[in-house]
Amino acid sequence: MSSQSPTTVLQDTPPASPKHVKFTDEVSPGHHLPRFQDDTTETESRWKKDAQIFEYGSAANPEMKPIPVLVHPASLHESGKTRVIPFDISEELDIDDTACTSPNLMASFLRINIGDGIETQVPTATSQVFYVIRGEGKSRISDENGNKETITWKTGDMFCVPVTQTEMTHICTGAESHGGAALYWIHDEPLMNYLGATPSVRKFEPTLYKKEDMIKKVEEIKHETGECHKKNRLGVLLGNAKCAQTKTLTHVLWSLLNSIPQNSVQRPHRHNSVALDLCVAAKPGVYTLMGKEIDSNGLIVDPIRCDWVPGSAFITPPGWWHSHHNESEDVAWVLPIQDAGMYTHMRTLDIRFVDDELELHRNGRIRGSAFAITNKDYTEMVSIGAKVPPEKQSSASKNVGLKRVLSAECLETAKRLKCTQILAPPAENNASFSQD
Ligand SMILES: [Fe+2]
Repeated sequence: MSSQSPTTVLQDTPPASPKHVKFTDEVSPGHHLPRFQDDTTETESRWKKDAQIFEYGSAANPEMKPIPVLVHPASLHESGKTRVIPFDISEELDIDDTACTSPNLMASFLRINIGDGIETQVPTATSQVFYVIRGEGKSRISDENGNKETITWKTGDMFCVPVTQTEMTHICTGAESHGGAALYWIHDEPLMNYLGATPSVRKFEPTLYKKEDMIKKVEEIKHETGECHKKNRLGVLLGNAKCAQTKTLTHVLWSLLNSIPQNSVQRPHRHNSVALDLCVAAKPGVYTLMGKEIDSNGLIVDPIRCDWVPGSAFITPPGWWHSHHNESEDVAWVLPIQDAGMYTHMRTLDIRFVDDELELHRNGRIRGSAFAITNKDYTEMVSIGAKVPPEKQSSASKNVGLKRVLSAECLETAKRLKCTQILAPPAENNASFSQD
């Protein structure tokens, strides 16, 4: 028989590892078939009770509460007693069996005053990540055998832990401001509660990312030349050796320490995961624009503007186009944490970059999935010398997508904000261009 088919692999012997697949197609000799003489009427009646049968069009895309753009402001962790400050929007999402910030994840701030400690415990989470927004201290964890392990941490460090039945204890030994440490804490307990599952396997080991190691890698990338430089200069993806295929923070979580150079813009992209973004550092004039659609110029239609405030977190809804803008004179840093580890595993992350999509569209193509990622706009920053446009715009200037949007959710005081959308530079000329 020919073995030319590219999609068929024949094996003479069973694979060495059956990967827990088990089935039986005959009853073992000596076993009698059960006679099944029970009365089935009551059982069938009970089993039919919850069965629903819908007309396809009425239920294929059910109405669900959308994931909103919301902010968890830094002011929450800058004063007050030692506590967990949950970013719980479960009511908005109509999710009643778990607190959550997105359907799969729960984000909170921990405020720990100097000299204080706090315990955290989420035994059903498969993954927890802690990012140190401010301060220094120690965290202790116990393994399944009761062995205790302690790490020290300081501003800019990050650590992850796998399923942990027992409580973790975090103490603060110092802080550069506000009288206490602040940690950004995210875990996937909402996902497990939705599944009704309890993790039984540690999928990775506790993992520590020190700030100096992350910054060192960023600096290395900065000084590299050629293609590698182009592809990576925005920041560092944080991976785990146990997640070799997905290259993600854990098998569920994903994170990127992302820098946006001064006076520059990162053109829109979108993905199916929800981003829970922490603003690490930014001067005034740094913001994200988000919206459901892009126009034929690659500008976000009716965007919501979300200003970056250091130590604040905001939600980027799944599937929304978003672009990052830095109109300040300093580099800005953001740390998105997403459920993209799981999406990557499922091959459904579908991250798309606006100029790739526009090019395809111009060529009369619409793809079903972003199976070939070029990362062009995500990795090649466009220097723009961006300026906030004057109040009055001519009809011609409207074409470059200047928008006035209300961002009530993004600031504690709702007010109209200026925002600037940026067109792609001319294809053959990557030189900076100005809005003037
Ligand atoms: Fe994103």
